[in-house]
Amino acid sequence: MKFFVDTADVEAIAELNELGMVDGVTTNPSLILKSGRDILEVTREICGIVSGPVSAEVVALKADDMIAEGRKLAKIADNIAVKVPLTWDGLKACKVLTGEGNMVNVTLCFSVNQALLAAKAGATFVSPFIGRLDDINADGMELIADIRRIYDNYGFETRILAASIRSVNHMSQAALIGADVATAPPKVIKAMANHPLTDKGLDGFLKDWAKTGQKIL
Ligand code: E4P
Repeated sequence: MKFFVDTADVEAIAELNELGMVDGVTTNPSLILKSGRDILEVTREICGIVSGPVSAEVVALKADDMIAEGRKLAKIADNIAVKVPLTWDGLKACKVLTGEGNMVNVTLCFSVNQALLAAKAGATFVSPFIGRLDDINADGMELIADIRRIYDNYGFETRILAASIRSVNHMSQAALIGADVATAPPKVIKAMANHPLTDKGLDGFLKDWAKTGQKIL
C-alpha cells in the first residue's frame, strides 16, 4: 500500500519524505487554510520535495470552471493530481482532464455507486472518506472493501485512495482490505511506530544495561 501524506505542512512532508514514507501528498481547501499559505506557492514547494502524485483541489462547482482551475493547477508541476469533487460536474471535469493526460483524484466519495462512476469517468484515484462515514455511524472500512471487490470484479484501473483516515487502525485495516493508497495526517503515520510492548521492552533492556556498567560508545 502506498502512503500519501494528508497535509500542506511542508516541514512535516519533508521529514517523512526523508524516511521514504511519502509516496504522494493530498491537500484540500481546509488544509491550505490550515497552512496559511498561498495554494500555488505551497503546492509548488510540495511538488519540489515529493516526486509522487500531489493532489491539489479545485473549488469551482461547474464543470467548465473546474476544468479551467484544474488546467491551472496541473501547470504547477508534472506530478500534480487534480482533485475534483464527486459530483456530476466533477465527473465531467474528470473525463476532460484525464483525457488531456492529467492525473485526477475524485474526492468526497461516500458510496460504491459514486466509486463506480469515478472509475467509468477514468479517474486515476478515487478517495472514499473513511473517517467522515464513521462520524455518522456508517462503516467507512466496509465501503473500501466493497469498492475493492467491485473494481476487481471488472478490472477497473482507478486506484482506491483511502482518505479521511483518523487512526492507526484505519491504516492497517485499509492495507488488509487492499486499498492501493492510504492518505493520512503526519501524526497518524508517526503513531504507527508506537506499541506499548515496545516501550516496556525497551525500558527493561535499558534498566538491565545500566546494571552491566558497560558503554558502547
Ligand atoms: C483526502 O484527500 C482529504 O484531504 C482528507 O483525507 C479529509 O480528511 P478529514 O475527513 O479528516 O478532513
